[in-house]
Parts: sequence; structure tokens; C-alpha cells
Amino acid sequence: MIEVEHLSKSYGAVAAVRDLSFQVEKGQVVGFLGPNGAGKSTTLRILAGFLGASSGRVRIAGFDVAEEPHEARSRLGYMPETSPLYPEMKVREYLAFRAELKDVPRAQRKLEVGRCLELARVSDVAEVLIGHLSKGYRQRVGIADALLRSPPLLILDEPTAGLDPNQIREVRALIGGLGAEHTILLSTHILSEVEASCSRAIVIAKGQLVATGSIDEIRGRGRPEVRLVLRGARDAAARALGASPGIASVALEERGDLVYATATLADAEQGDEATERLVAAAVRAKLGVRSVMTHAATLEEVFADLTREEAAARSEVAS
Ligand SMILES: Nc1ncnc2c1ncn2[C@@H]1O[C@H](COP(=O)(O)OP(=O)(O)O)[C@@H](O)[C@H]1O
Ligand SMILES: [Mg+2]
Repeated sequence: MIEVEHLSKSYGAVAAVRDLSFQVEKGQVVGFLGPNGAGKSTTLRILAGFLGASSGRVRIAGFDVAEEPHEARSRLGYMPETSPLYPEMKVREYLAFRAELKDVPRAQRKLEVGRCLELARVSDVAEVLIGHLSKGYRQRVGIADALLRSPPLLILDEPTAGLDPNQIREVRALIGGLGAEHTILLSTHILSEVEASCSRAIVIAKGQLVATGSIDEIRGRGRPEVRLVLRGARDAAARALGASPGIASVALEERGDLVYATATLADAEQGDEATERLVAAAVRAKLGVRSVMTHAATLEEVFADLTREEAAARSEVAS
């Protein structure tokens, strides 16, 4: 449904998106995840045909957004980060105006607006001025707008930003329902958002792709740690644990006659065996094993690692 190839966009000297490639398959709800300033909104604006790329190409349902903009745009509904909603218009009136701009035939407009009011659950405020709506309702009016003409693809830029927990739940439920009928790409800088709403995620940082896959695949990229408290000398602990297979690194801290060791495992899959080997190595070195604790990386830690270190490492390589 979406094919992005080597997309780059600079604002003057600021490289907001750098050589970004990814795909979104039909029928998926995909999270576009990255910290603030990562380039999410810039990418989504280009996908939606509101901003030209500096280089690279984007296809929506097979249509190139630069070469066949009308074909591409008619297949998607886009909710920008800050919807340009008109405060002095009533909700129904605004959607009718938007439907006209989107070439919904006059005879069908009323029905289509009614359908989108229902779907986005804003029928109850249809005759209310947009300027009088809560942020949660305004967000849903933005979603109703994106739904006009029932496009197969919805692109939602931070649909839950600035909402209170109840409103977030409502918008998530709404997105969950829409996922049955639409392919959805939604951006967020909040990890739990992706876990709640999406089956897959595309993670970017500093304009570059850092990970893509199912939530479990991304979580699996985190490397678990084994934390041991040993009685003995630091050097002996360093020798014993450092030589144990499957360990990426060991950090040691000596306190009194105890050594606190944190071993980062090289491979999440081999966690149990690596832990047993570490304990065996400590026993062989005649270190007293006081405690052993394993710590699986949380999705938060993986996200922090991915968006901090890898982006930094990559930009060093690139520059
Ligand atoms: N119109 C603009 N002019 C100049 N720089 C911009 C503009 N829009 C965004 N940027 C910069 O591009 C980078 C990416 O911004 P943006 O795409 O809004 O990121 P995100 O949506 O992930 O927070 C940021 O460094 C931002 O300051
Ligand atoms: Mg943004």
C-alpha cells in the first residue's frame, strides 16, 4: 500500500529525512515511531502529497505521489499534526466543505458526511462550532475528515497527542475499529501507543530508519542482562565471566568483599543457557554466588537504545 524508496528531505541545511526506505502492506495498522524531531511529520506530509521530497520516491497503492499526485492522493486520507480546522464552522458544515474540496459528488455529500460523522463518533456534535469542541472531539473531527471518500489508506499524524487518558482510550478504540477496513499508518513518539494500536512499527531517529518489524521482533532486539552478586575478587570475576561464551560485555563493581557483575548477553534467544554458563564459570573460579537475577530488556529500553545509540553510530559512519 505504501512504498518508500531512498526518501530524503532537507529544509535548507537541516536534513529532516535521510535515505529512508520502508513498506507498509495492505490491511496493516503500522506505528511510525520516533522521538520528537525525528522526521515523522515531514515523512507523512510527503506521503500525503503535501510536501515535495528532495530525492527518492513514494508510491501509494502503486501510484507515484510526485508523478501521479491525483491518483495517489485520492487513495489516502490524511490527518495532519495540527488539523487546519475552522473554529467558526460547525462540524457538519466543515465536513461538507471538505467533502466538496475532495470532489465528493454534490448528490452524495450529505450521506457521506453523515457516514463519517457516525464512523468517527462525532454525530452528537455535528451542529457545534469547531471552536467550542474539546481537543478530543477536534481530533475525531480530523479523523472524520480523513475518512471522507473512504480511502483505503489512512495517514494519521500523532492522533492522540495532547489528549487526556479517557480521550486517548476513545481515539485508540476508534483507530482499532477502523483498522478492520483501512490500512493505517499512524505516527507517535510514545511507545505504549504503538503497543496499544499497532501490529507493526517503523522506528526512525534523526531522519533515518533504525528498526522495522512486529512489536515482538523489535522487542527481541533488546539484549537481556544477567546481574550477579559474587563473593571474591574483582579480577577473578572479570576473568571467569569474561571468558564465558555468549556474553557481549561485563560491567563489574567491587563493594567490600562482594563483586556486582552485570553481564549483557549477546543473544536474547540463548538467555537461559548463557545464564547457566555464567553461574558455572563463577563456581569453577571458586567465587561465591550470592544472587543471580535476569533482566529482559523492556520495549522502552530497546526504543531508547535504538533511537539514541544507533542513530548516533550511523550518523558517525555517514559523516
Ligand atoms: N518547515 C520547516 N522548516 C525547517 N525545518 C523544519 C521544518 N519542519 C520541520 N523541520 C525540522 O525537521 C526535523 C524533523 O521535523 P518533523 O518532521 O516535524 O519531526 P517529528 O514529526 O518527528 O517531530 C526537525 O529538526 C525540525 O526542526
Ligand atoms: Mg511531528
